[in-house]
Amino acid sequence: MRELIEKIMEEGEVLSEHVLKVDRFLNHQVDPQLMKKIGEHFADEFRHERITKVLTLESSGISPALMTAYELNVPLLVARKRKPVTLSENTYKASVYSFTKREETEIFVSQTLLDCEDRVLIIDDFLANGQAALGLTDIVAQAKAHVAGIGIVIEKAFQGGGQLLRSRGYRVVSLARIASLQDGTVKLIEEVMCE
Ligand code: G4P
Repeated sequence: MRELIEKIMEEGEVLSEHVLKVDRFLNHQVDPQLMKKIGEHFADEFRHERITKVLTLESSGISPALMTAYELNVPLLVARKRKPVTLSENTYKASVYSFTKREETEIFVSQTLLDCEDRVLIIDDFLANGQAALGLTDIVAQAKAHVAGIGIVIEKAFQGGGQLLRSRGYRVVSLARIASLQDGTVKLIEEVMCE
């Protein structure tokens, strides 16, 4: 997606060979116009899938996921990383291991908000090792709902997540694919991958 790639090149900061900081438009400060375009793009890619719900994981997935849900005119469901006191009913629960943070997090979704009739589009900001997205597919499976696709804003293609998810048969659409972050430089795989 041209506008996203321009933003990454102009405002992204390479922190290390593994980490790209995009705090000026995605992870800390958020660019609403860019999020709107991202939402339109994902909606166009997945509209034919008759999506009933968009699912993301708090917190940085929320901005692109909300705009996608708005464009598809369906609810956005946000998996929680802590069980809030208001989430008293039964929950679907999955474990997500972060290789980046070297810690395991439990994620929760109310059983009242997802069921076997749902066709779910998973949206997240970053795809690294794929553990967050896999945790969300686990939640969808527990609800006996269907994963209709996975939309990722920035995929670090040099880590294993994209390959892992695609090998499991999921259609993953990434709007920007990073080939490497070596020598302080963002190298992109230019074309959008749809599989
Ligand atoms: P994985 O789910 O693909 O396996 O990713 P991983 O555990 O490695 O990522 C853990 C957290 O770090 C996630 O955010 C993810 O979005 C973020 N992340 C991973 N690589 C990068 C990167 O290169 N740049 C940035 N900016 N973030 C990265 P999180 O802990 O869920 O945080 P948040 O959603 O609350 O912001």
